Amino acid sequence: MSKDKRVYVTRKLPKKALEMLEREFKVEVNPHDRVMTREELETAVKDIDGLLCLLTDSIDSELLELNPDLKVIANYAVGYNNIDVEACTKKEIKVSNTPGVLTDTTADFAWTLLMAAARRIIEADKFTRAGKYKGWGPMMFLGGDIYGKKLGIIGIGRIGRAFARRAKGFDMDFYYYDVNRLEKAEEKRLGLEYKNFEDLLKESDFISLHVPLIPQTRHLIGEEELKLMKETAYLINTARGPIIDEKALVWALKNGEIAGAGLDVYEEEPNLYSDLDKLDNTVLTPHIASASIETRTKMATMAAENLIAGLKGKEMPNLINK
Ligand code: DGY
Repeated sequence: MSKDKRVYVTRKLPKKALEMLEREFKVEVNPHDRVMTREELETAVKDIDGLLCLLTDSIDSELLELNPDLKVIANYAVGYNNIDVEACTKKEIKVSNTPGVLTDTTADFAWTLLMAAARRIIEADKFTRAGKYKGWGPMMFLGGDIYGKKLGIIGIGRIGRAFARRAKGFDMDFYYYDVNRLEKAEEKRLGLEYKNFEDLLKESDFISLHVPLIPQTRHLIGEEELKLMKETAYLINTARGPIIDEKALVWALKNGEIAGAGLDVYEEEPNLYSDLDKLDNTVLTPHIASASIETRTKMATMAAENLIAGLKGKEMPNLINK
């Protein structure tokens, strides 16, 4: 069978997905184990039919101009704020993402951050490794309790709900805020109470963000919102960095406006806002909420399935721009 279609993959992926693509197309993969530079990406997109890209690749209208023949873009992520979907639609380029498969893994990780921040795991680990543990002490590394507290979930899509399900085990009161309020019956089924944004900020002991990055959610949490939060509250972000105004967050963390934060995503990835890394009351991870072996493999095969379907003129299972 002659492989007449060409695809480019912007980062080495789990083998299974690459093999799926190689069975169908001429495949080229970014040879470097790093994010592609703009220049490299510009060269790569020329003369291809399909692109499998990552959230670190900015797929904007200028890039699309370089290849009038590009037909399909499969994003290896559920979030697709890195792609100008409107420009793709205008050019009749089909775009897909990887929803569903990373829901539980990401929800687990949001809890990991929450617990690590509340119970000061990173500070305590550093202390122990440094040989500073000289005996049990009643005032050592006092953190905040999790059980019985109030949890505010902002954004009640798949991941927000999976995160909420886990709260039941901690005997917490949990609330949500979302621009789209759920049906009453669904709220009841999930055991979730709706709060308006301001009340949720004021009342919660923990706040976890699960909204997509769109113009309306950029800096959703800024100085004003941080001031409304309790001084004992923790903020968790596994969604997208720019949802929080990082400068305001650093100010709030330094000045005791909130107790701490657990962050997996940043405003200007991979850079951190100055001083964020100097604060003890933060747990910082490098955008790994979906990074389990199983999930990253599923994401890769899902992206490959979409690319294959799209280039073969079949219905793409996770088409965004219908
Ligand atoms: C996504 O898929 O959007 C995550 O941020 C990375 O897995």
